[in-house]
Amino acid sequence: MKITTKNISEETVKTKVIVLPFFEEEPREAYVKLDSLIGGFIGRTINSGEFSANHGQATLLHVSNIKAERLLLIGLGRRDAATAEKIRQAGGKVFPMLRDAGLSDVAVSVKTLDTLRGSSSGGFRGSLRPVCYFLEGGLLGLYKFERYKKTGDDAKTGKKIKSVTIIGDGRDMPLRWLQTVVAANCVARDLINTPANHMTPAVLAATARSLSGRKLKVRVLEKKDAEKEGMGVYLAVAGGSVEPSKFIVMDYKGGRGAPLVLVGKGITFDSGGLSLKQSEGMEKMKYDMAGAAAVLGVMKAVAELALPINLVGIMPATENLPGGGAVKPGDVVTSITGKTVEIINTDAEGRLILADALGYGIKHFRPKAVIDIATLTGACSITFGSEAIAMMGNNDELMERLRRASEETYERVWQMPLYEEYKDYLKSDIADIKNMGGRNGAMLTAAYFLKEFVGDTPWVHLDIAATAFNEKDRPYLPKGASGAGVRLLLNFLKES
Ligand code: BES
Ligand code: MN
Ligand code: ZN
Repeated sequence: MKITTKNISEETVKTKVIVLPFFEEEPREAYVKLDSLIGGFIGRTINSGEFSANHGQATLLHVSNIKAERLLLIGLGRRDAATAEKIRQAGGKVFPMLRDAGLSDVAVSVKTLDTLRGSSSGGFRGSLRPVCYFLEGGLLGLYKFERYKKTGDDAKTGKKIKSVTIIGDGRDMPLRWLQTVVAANCVARDLINTPANHMTPAVLAATARSLSGRKLKVRVLEKKDAEKEGMGVYLAVAGGSVEPSKFIVMDYKGGRGAPLVLVGKGITFDSGGLSLKQSEGMEKMKYDMAGAAAVLGVMKAVAELALPINLVGIMPATENLPGGGAVKPGDVVTSITGKTVEIINTDAEGRLILADALGYGIKHFRPKAVIDIATLTGACSITFGSEAIAMMGNNDELMERLRRASEETYERVWQMPLYEEYKDYLKSDIADIKNMGGRNGAMLTAAYFLKEFVGDTPWVHLDIAATAFNEKDRPYLPKGASGAGVRLLLNFLKES
């Protein structure tokens, strides 16, 4: 899609449709001149009560006398309650609607949105020009996963928005940033939505390899390499599957100094292993590699944007299946750090592969900090519904920076405690630690388990089990994978 800015007027732009955002307070005043040219149809639509600029309300008008064929009035709600997220949501409503109407080129008026600029009145805060959030929501909302829609009613329609013109000056429009971030998010969504028979550890590894370049080196450790590294905890999880496991390491060098390490959980299917899950809902466990997908998306964007940082992405990838070689409840295995782990429940496999991945990253890269991202616990969804990422860690400053990035992106993080008492929950009778702390506090003991493998390295854990996948459409997140974490981490990296 081509996105350009054009410093012309709404009256002269030639397009299939101009999107006109309105606030509730004084809708009639917003586009008076344009309205007089088209014979007052905007005013009539407002006066009739059909359009009052409620948040998300949309009305399409065919018009004559100007170069544009149509106007799309979109309500932003009250100006004094405007937020970046509300604008994003409005964009997420409008773009798919115009696409589905078959309109291939679209123009967006910035007039009313720009009135929020620099004003901290009401709820609007955000580092970007307001129209950027509209665009971001719009682009994110256009996502569709059509790989398996071949025939029938749902087959590809071919309808596409090919060009977007922003009517206004081109200042403060980081279009490349926006498009790269959205593309990275959508790559993650594609990987996650792809079923496990087509998204094996090998496919994930090949995808990572395809991104390698001058500054981005990709290395994949096979089973024998992982054995040499002593990653017995990761290998224990891989034992039950005939799909070869892949321990993927992406090393981006764009700056100086110790790198930041990102670790993403890459369970391409989680059956639970011998501690088998119930069948209801098990199909969703293809999304247990959403952490790895987010890391891959972030690495791709960072390389494309050539950010001046050093960043390592580690994605331990394997299936968790109950095959003949599967790890058994009660087994004890040894991690790269030397710690022994008693495996009580083979369904608590995420923390196992992450333990070795964190250990590997810290040992080989001596990072200044490490952040892991994982669909780690069902308890996360029980706590937050679909609304937040659980954040835990051993470093307040790092968590504060992530919290700030989360305010900008609305990928909300909420900090949860890691009380030292949780250590007791994980006491094993025969090994250094066990992999399950019981039902109570399950999200927290899972994170506490990870903490035991990071030593003094500043570390944050992000549990995205609640937000990685949506059961129903949300404003700019169509049902399915959300790509959670990609925008959050990229914003965090931009500010670092
Ligand atoms: N991948 C799951 C967590 C999960 C569940 C993510 C539902 C998204 C939706 C994880 O591997 C798991 O099975 N966790 C168990 C741990 C338990 C056995 C200690 C859980 O949360 O039930
Ligand atoms: Mn599991
Ligand atoms: Zn899992």
